[in-house]
Amino acid sequence: MNRNRKIGIFDSGYGGLTVFEAIRREMPQYDYVYLGDNARAPYGTRSFDIVYEYTLQAVKKLFDLGAELVVLACNTASAKALRNIQQNDLPIIDPSKRVLGVIRPSVEAIGKYTKSRHVGVFGTQGTVDSDSYTIEIGKLWSDVKVFQQACPMWVPLVENGEYDSDGADYFVKKYVDMLMWQSADIDTIILACTHFPLLLPKIRKYIPENVTLLGQGDLVAMSLKDYLKRHDDMERRLGTGGNVEFFTTESVGKFSMTAKLFFDGDLTVEHITLQ
Ligand code: DGL
Repeated sequence: MNRNRKIGIFDSGYGGLTVFEAIRREMPQYDYVYLGDNARAPYGTRSFDIVYEYTLQAVKKLFDLGAELVVLACNTASAKALRNIQQNDLPIIDPSKRVLGVIRPSVEAIGKYTKSRHVGVFGTQGTVDSDSYTIEIGKLWSDVKVFQQACPMWVPLVENGEYDSDGADYFVKKYVDMLMWQSADIDTIILACTHFPLLLPKIRKYIPENVTLLGQGDLVAMSLKDYLKRHDDMERRLGTGGNVEFFTTESVGKFSMTAKLFFDGDLTVEHITLQ
């Protein structure tokens, strides 16, 4: 079998780089292709149909670029597009390829951490409105109560490099309080947006000390590693040159500058158009 295919990583913009960094740390041997649809981000405020349409375009492009397996490293895309793509599009495009999301690994973890069985979810408006976390947690951990809080100001704060500014405190405290008011018994919270790890020090400042905050990078990386262990047929198709390519729908200069906030390491990026 030809071992020359890549793992594709997709995000609406930069946030997926936090997930990609964890994946690459865990499995540096594989070849990767990252695609950020920065020109059309944020996805968090967009409708179901639009997020599905954009995500499908990105997945097809990643397949064209040599990806065998695509990780939707974006909660909004995972919530609004993953199931449709897996069930309806993949069988037509190429049934041997795979698309995975970030919600399932997060849901599997959260039930193992919580003792109070009251958990919180911080996400974009789109992720929260989709109810994906509530539905998926209900399937796996039926005794767990889920409390969600949309944080529409957090993505812009991060994208604009304001995540550690004094001004960010207002919106971090606001959404933290709004979640904790829903239940004082919440003991575990998932940061269900790939941008939010950058706000972690500020979130920590306003969250009660006993609450565990779960980021997604390591959870998704470990889950992908486990998936490849269980799917030898897929693993054997993946190239192991350790190469990484980055593509953005925005300008190359803008991506290179801002990506530094999210990704520790040098990157060369190319412009790409999705349609
Ligand atoms: N990356 C997206 C997510 O994880 C957030 C950014 C956006 O709204 O596009 O939900």
